[in-house]
Amino acid sequence: MQESAGLLLVISLVLSNAILHVWSQDTGALLLTCGDEAGAKDLDGRQWSPDEKYLSKGSNSIASRATYQDPSLISEVPYMTARVFESKSTYKFPIKPDKRYWLRLHFYPSFYGSHDCADSYFSVTANSITLLSNFSASITCLALSQAYIDREYSLAALGSDTLTLTFKPADKNGAFAFVNGIQLIQMPELFDSASMVGFDQTFDAKSMHVQTMFRLNVGGKYLSPTQDSGLTRIWYDDYPYIYGASTGITTSAPSDVKLNYQSMPEYTAPSDVYLTSRSMGTDKNVNMGYNLTWVFQIDPNSMYLVRLHFCDYFNKEVNDLAFNIFLNSQMAEAGIDVIAMVGGRGIPLYRDFVVYARDGADSDQLWVALHPNGITKPSYLDAILNGLEIFKLSDTDLSGPNPTPSDRFNRESEEKFESHKPYNKTVVIGGAAGGAAGFALVAAICLAVHKKKKYAGQHTHSSWLPIHGNSSGASKSSMSASSIGSSNVTAMAQGLCRYFTLQEMKHATKNFDEANVIGVGGFGKVYKGVIDNGMKVAIKRSNPESEQGVNEFQTEIEMLSKLRHKHLVSLIGFCEDNDEMCLVYDYMALGTFRDHLYKGNKRLGTLSWKQRLEICIGAARGLHYLHTGAKYTIIHRDVKTTNILLDENWAAKVSDFGLSKTGPNMNNGHVSTVVKGSFGYLDPEYFRRQQLTEKSDVYSFGVVLFEALCARPVLNPNLPKEQVSLAEWALLCKRRGTLEEIIDPSLKGKINPESLKKFVDTAEKCLSDIGVERPTMNDLLWNLEFALTLQESGSTHSSVSHSGESELEEISLDDKDTASHNKSQSLGVQNELSQRQQQDSTSDNTGAIYSQFVNLNGR
Ligand SMILES: *[C@@H]1O[C@H](CO)[C@@H](O)[C@H](O)[C@H]1NC(C)=O
Ligand SMILES: *[C@@H]1O[C@H](CO)[C@@H](O)[C@H](O)[C@H]1NC(C)=O
Repeated sequence: MQESAGLLLVISLVLSNAILHVWSQDTGALLLTCGDEAGAKDLDGRQWSPDEKYLSKGSNSIASRATYQDPSLISEVPYMTARVFESKSTYKFPIKPDKRYWLRLHFYPSFYGSHDCADSYFSVTANSITLLSNFSASITCLALSQAYIDREYSLAALGSDTLTLTFKPADKNGAFAFVNGIQLIQMPELFDSASMVGFDQTFDAKSMHVQTMFRLNVGGKYLSPTQDSGLTRIWYDDYPYIYGASTGITTSAPSDVKLNYQSMPEYTAPSDVYLTSRSMGTDKNVNMGYNLTWVFQIDPNSMYLVRLHFCDYFNKEVNDLAFNIFLNSQMAEAGIDVIAMVGGRGIPLYRDFVVYARDGADSDQLWVALHPNGITKPSYLDAILNGLEIFKLSDTDLSGPNPTPSDRFNRESEEKFESHKPYNKTVVIGGAAGGAAGFALVAAICLAVHKKKKYAGQHTHSSWLPIHGNSSGASKSSMSASSIGSSNVTAMAQGLCRYFTLQEMKHATKNFDEANVIGVGGFGKVYKGVIDNGMKVAIKRSNPESEQGVNEFQTEIEMLSKLRHKHLVSLIGFCEDNDEMCLVYDYMALGTFRDHLYKGNKRLGTLSWKQRLEICIGAARGLHYLHTGAKYTIIHRDVKTTNILLDENWAAKVSDFGLSKTGPNMNNGHVSTVVKGSFGYLDPEYFRRQQLTEKSDVYSFGVVLFEALCARPVLNPNLPKEQVSLAEWALLCKRRGTLEEIIDPSLKGKINPESLKKFVDTAEKCLSDIGVERPTMNDLLWNLEFALTLQESGSTHSSVSHSGESELEEISLDDKDTASHNKSQSLGVQNELSQRQQQDSTSDNTGAIYSQFVNLNGR
């Protein structure tokens, strides 16, 4: 029995390998972890070997280990060990003279023994091609706000059977070169001729050496090297590169669309790239009024190949969709009609264009813009993009200057102070290979604002926030103090989150008038406000006494400034002025989900079953995006009905990211952390093991589902013991077959039994004791949608039994309402205190439970 299962597993593994590795990447692939004597596996499970045997004789090098591990390093291998060169040194690798190769270099500027990478300037050549010159990994990382850089090159056939990789320190006292990892992998010829924008001719890129500048899964998620189509490339989310506020909408292919590569090699791009896209939107008038635009930071005076990937999975007919492509304001292609070119739905296509970035104003930016082609009158005035790659081309020299962040941001800050309108600012995000960087930059900015403040160093803010580069890495913090002025940083912060003055905040809230208070949490009060021309907003004002507030304020800006999703509350901006801190959000007219289910212990029963399902689905979508949509898995940690807000159209939006954590996007990844969250929703496994995974959010969401069904508080200490916790009570009733008795009476007879069954089964699975047995957010979403379909298609006749009325009355103990309310009130002060204790200790569970328990009315 077991053997046959094992055999099946082997077969399926073999099969999946056969499908994935259309390009057999493993032939002679070299993955070297430099300065490591034994070799090791990275987090993706790829084996890296020692580099020593490829070093030429006479090379003067030191194998060394970094003295500090930045928390943002996603994998220790190959970054934690390095080879340091005090004089010119070479590696020699055997290659095939007629083949193209990936050459990837990995740098983690840190301290290696007495070598401080801040003093390291060097050049790197591959045979006669200059890859880097006067390169400072340290400055580059600082400018991009990340701890490490990966550079990806693709070298055309070199006509030689040896690749000589030379590292040469700058002619400067104390300068040295270093490298942490080298990948040399034979690859298929990916390049061909491309049309030159602005010239009526084509350019042959086949013989060109290439540096990858950006590689984006447009409208999709981060894809790791092992998720690529055999070429071990990394694909990033495109969102940070979108210009302005018009971000269009993202879609993914309907499940019945089967991707057909036709004659295009499948390694061109993975199916995940083609099955998601960004388009302009559904309103043709809006679409005709703007360009869907991405902006990239590039080196001037160079040639770039821009590859746009398309796949139309909605339309079928010629002239359903036709649009124009502009590169740097020049028409690159007029009226491209993907369906007409490929002949049908679900067939991918890419287009290559070559642009030359001249010296001069704005020569360091590359603009990609799409606009509907009104002339051919297509059925839909829209435009789409599925993937985008930008490569720098040269036959001799791919090097560029070190980035100089302060100049750029000075210039931009001036522009920004002039115009106080939101969003009409150029957000340019610089990037090294793949653009990992850009993402980091944006968020780091927001964070950096706080570093300069007196709070810095005072609180124990977790540095488990890899994307944001808020590391306390010695080299980085010492540099940031000297090279980035605080005003620049503040200005940078305005790129993605709008900056408000205290004056504006006072104006918006009528001087923080108590009459405008719409909520109170651990952070402080939440006010209703009006900005600009009558736009309603919610303003969360910090309580200056709450240190917790400072932490959560930071986390919230970090998280929200880079996330935008229909089902996440959007952050409009923030204010930090005279020790006042405010966060400004979209105003959610209909308040919290809980407010529509019950108040105190009293059921309200105003929402129909369909509405409740739709709200749960919306919230699940928001959480699904957090778990999978960004480069890193983001765990919300405080999923509850008071954190699900409703806008004027009853659309659900997840809010309150004060406790959110990012974790590495790895298999079975988890983050070890102090247990936080709200009692009654807490994942018991997380509680036991103090290890946080996205399944903890799934557990909490399961509680939300039962809350939606039963419309009672998740904890009601006034009830008999077995009924206090809704999660436990609901599971018990489900097992006893008496669940129908605890359903919200206002739903009686209105739920289709099939829909109910699907819903309850799903909620029960979410509450599994063991994380791995819980569904993913994606499965959950699917099941809820199914429950909704069943409700809509099913009969409307009464199905829920009318028995148990008496028990229900027993539960809704109106008279005890006031008592329990008072109880939590009086514990309010204690609450603040115990939360602080909880922050300082990692093992004091009692304190944690206590604070969460008294905190059940929300922070
Ligand atoms: C779109 O971009 C092109 C090229 O820069 C420009 O000519 C055109 O006016 C833009 N259209 C809109 C609506 O902004
Ligand atoms: C090397 O780079 C640094 C930092 O960007 C710069 O200040 C210096 O002038 C450069 N040196 C040369 C020789 O280009």
